[in-house]
Amino acid sequence: MQQHHSVKILVTGANGQLGTELHAVLEATMPGISTYTTKETLDVTDREATKRFIADGEYTHIINCAAYTSVDRAEVEPALCLKVNSEGVGNLASVAYENGIKIIHISTDYVFDGSSCRPYQEADKVNPTSTYGTSKRKGEMVLLSLCPDAIILRTSWLYSPHGRNFVKTMLRASVEHKNVNIICDQVGTPTSAKDLAAAISTIIQAKQWVPGIYHFSDEGVCSWYDFAKAIFRLAGVKSCTVTPISTDDYNTENTTAAIRPPYSVLDKQRIKKTYGLTIPHWEESLSECIETLRHSRY
Ligand SMILES: NC(=O)c1ccc[n+]([C@@H]2O[C@H](COP(=O)([O-])OP(=O)(O)OC[C@H]3O[C@@H](n4cnc5c(N)ncnc54)[C@H](OP(=O)(O)O)[C@@H]3O)[C@@H](O)[C@H]2O)c1
Repeated sequence: MQQHHSVKILVTGANGQLGTELHAVLEATMPGISTYTTKETLDVTDREATKRFIADGEYTHIINCAAYTSVDRAEVEPALCLKVNSEGVGNLASVAYENGIKIIHISTDYVFDGSSCRPYQEADKVNPTSTYGTSKRKGEMVLLSLCPDAIILRTSWLYSPHGRNFVKTMLRASVEHKNVNIICDQVGTPTSAKDLAAAISTIIQAKQWVPGIYHFSDEGVCSWYDFAKAIFRLAGVKSCTVTPISTDDYNTENTTAAIRPPYSVLDKQRIKKTYGLTIPHWEESLSECIETLRHSRY
């Protein structure tokens, strides 16, 4: 384990789903050594401000949780999406390079087109089908070109008790509607932001820093339809049904929807072997999130 006193971490986008969970896990495992910034306190698209903020801070690590994550909205405002997910990453990367800071950056399963019929490995061919996916791939490339020592974690279908996500959308829908139509022909893996945050904490505390791209999601596989059914079952929802629909039917009603990969299961062997991780099944982590949400409004 590294000496904690020699580690100083900057977390960007700390108000988001992952940033919030990371705050909790870092303060529990390595208290008092991290700085948490939001869009208001550190806008990563502001090159000069980012440079000033980081150059003065004597950070050893940056964990970049800042991102533009509205996949459908990105299709109508591509410039902002690209600015945050590519230019913003470039700004962090150049300051990190100049100051010898290690970066952990988060990317997405949406860099793939979904034509695979086995879980995606890190070296598999990328081919994003959406503006969001393209912007995230550009972010990966700009980061690796400036900081070959960086670690990139590609994750999928992130949710948490905080922020906007499918779990909370379904729970809200369950009180507002008698039925929801959910896509059954897109398959992937839901990932609890808490599990990803724990993996990041493990990487920072590990003896070895092994750069490169890693895939991380929870264990198991499901469709959005299965995910919705599990949410309702675990939350005890009885008053709302879930109807499986095809992507084609969904897109006929939602003409501005981004094109998503039909299959985006990630192969996690590399991260599990390198960092000795045991990852929970998605239903176990979902159950924990729903338990937390039971005591709050969604
Ligand atoms: N959500 C998913 O399903 C999913 C799936 C795969 C990969 N990922 C990746 O996982 C990472 C974490 O996602 P998440 O779900 O935690 O995202 P999130 O909840 O949307 O959080 C992103 C945070 O970044 C902030 N932000 C936006 N623009 C910024 C800027 N210019 N400077 C600084 N901060 C800025 C956002 O602030 P505002 O909310 O005020 O804009 C928000 O607090 C992202 O890299 C995302 O691409 C997410």
